[in-house]
Amino acid sequence: MADKDTSLETHNYHFDVPVKNKVFSLKGSNSLGWGMKNRLSNIFNPETNRTVMLAVDHGYFLGPTAGLERIDITIVPLLQYADTLMCTRGILRSTIAPTFTKGVVLRASGGPSILKELSNEEIAVDIEDAIRLNVAALAVQVFIGGEYETKSINNMTRLVDMGNRYGIPVLGVTAVGKQMVRDVKYMRLATRICAELGASYVKTYYMPDGFETVTASCPVPIVIAGGKKLPELDALKMAHNAIEQGACGVDMGRNIFQSEAPIAMIQAVRKIVHENFSPEDAYDVYQELKGK
Ligand code: R5P
Repeated sequence: MADKDTSLETHNYHFDVPVKNKVFSLKGSNSLGWGMKNRLSNIFNPETNRTVMLAVDHGYFLGPTAGLERIDITIVPLLQYADTLMCTRGILRSTIAPTFTKGVVLRASGGPSILKELSNEEIAVDIEDAIRLNVAALAVQVFIGGEYETKSINNMTRLVDMGNRYGIPVLGVTAVGKQMVRDVKYMRLATRICAELGASYVKTYYMPDGFETVTASCPVPIVIAGGKKLPELDALKMAHNAIEQGACGVDMGRNIFQSEAPIAMIQAVRKIVHENFSPEDAYDVYQELKGK
């Protein structure tokens, strides 16, 4: 046996085949380290470089939002259709089985409830706890133009530094305060600031006019929040337009879990994000699955 192992004829070193260096094609992410890329690949499907994130973190300032009263009943059955789950550590530990192996994007900022000034957040998670939970990314709210703008940016940059130490990406979430204007100019400003200051990817809201300028001027991937519940076809149109205009996916909550048929809706959203379905074709999928 020992003879066989050391004999040159039993080995093939493929001397004539150069080692391939594959580019990591997710927007703006090729220079990141292995751990970051691996975690991002647990959020963005490497085949499409897109993601369907299921957002259920609303309770961190809103309490039991409609559709999230019993996450074990309403959300757990949707997990198989999501690429990634965005939630708080409280929900993760209490309600999500540790056998869930897709990416978890952990809500890492918090503090004020809906009754107070929302921009007055703090970092709400220790990096050690995020590592313990094996998360794929940390999500932090950034309030550009908000009362506590600098503090919220500081929360993000501190999380970026901690994340960089351990290979954990940070999702910068552009928050729109109660009094703040939502237009493309604002979204360009807010998303670009998040990316410049180190966010690995950025979540923002879809704007009907000029959204492609937001994605074009942000050097890292952008995902859109779903926002308030819309009729299903309108939500699918929004997702479709955002993807067509350069978004790398959705981080959708209410338009999925408040849908009349959440399991059908998340599958229809997937068709748009990963298979470039038209909104009408995806809506047909929704109707068909809803009827089952
Ligand atoms: C705010 O509550 C959270 O960051 C949500 O994750 C985000 O707004 C996405 O959820 P929705 O699609 O319901 O807007």
